Amino acid sequence: MIRKCLFPAAGYGTRFLPATKVLPKEMLPVCTKPLIQYGVEEAMEASIYMLAVVTGRGKYTLENHFDISYELEHQIKGTIKEKRLADIRRIIDRCEFIYVRQHEMKGLGHAVLTGESLIGAEPFAVVLADDLCFGEGEGVLSQMKAVFSKKRQSIVAVMDVPQSEISSYGIVLGEEIGDNLVRVNRMIEKPASGSTDSTLAVIGRYILTEDIFAILKHIKPGSGGEIQLTDALNVQAEKGGVLAYRFKGTRYDCGSLHGFVEATNAVYRMLSNAPDNQFSI
Ligand code: G1P
Repeated sequence: MIRKCLFPAAGYGTRFLPATKVLPKEMLPVCTKPLIQYGVEEAMEASIYMLAVVTGRGKYTLENHFDISYELEHQIKGTIKEKRLADIRRIIDRCEFIYVRQHEMKGLGHAVLTGESLIGAEPFAVVLADDLCFGEGEGVLSQMKAVFSKKRQSIVAVMDVPQSEISSYGIVLGEEIGDNLVRVNRMIEKPASGSTDSTLAVIGRYILTEDIFAILKHIKPGSGGEIQLTDALNVQAEKGGVLAYRFKGTRYDCGSLHGFVEATNAVYRMLSNAPDNQFSI
């Protein structure tokens, strides 16, 4: 039912310069895997195997990562090091990657619209790889897919943030309807601190119904002069068509240095405590 996941990945990653001068920010490693691989694994865990990536200039290493490296594989074949490629091999064997290039950076809404040719007329998931999520029990996308199968509406993943941070997020105003769900009345992209009481922030996981593309085509530049996905979701929300889901799990804001270091520490702890401790091979 949700077969495809869109990864907007055309951004410059200016907060990580000069590391991102040549290296796409999605390829920055959190311990042993590039950031985007965690998002891809989350999609796979939700049984989504068609991965649509909106890339930009200089992002070719991203495509190479999700492809076989014959020389490397030949070199380490039969050695203990082969194990380190097991996860990426599983992804390459099972998933199909499709790409489109976004020529200009005009905001998240524009990036999603650029992905229309890859998605077509069906509901789909969106992962912003900057947000690294570890679900409780199951992954955040799996949780959202379960909600979608019952409600058939666009869904945004949300969490409460401190009031002082609302200006970094899309903020949801709505009514609690139980089961960790909020019916969205309105969304505001990056409101000024103190301008609304709501602290319910959208994180980078969405399930969108296909009408979002037709809506996005008419969205004018909003916050930051960019075409905002939030503004298109607002049009759906006016018709009662958007739910916010309080996911179970932890999210790391890897778009900031602080969050990136926190995520790295958390993954390091997980890997060190795993029975097949990767660092010992
Ligand atoms: C985007 C969205 C925002 C959302 C955030 C989550 O903003 O526009 O609504 O809250 O992702 O990470 P960005 O962080 O790309 O500026």
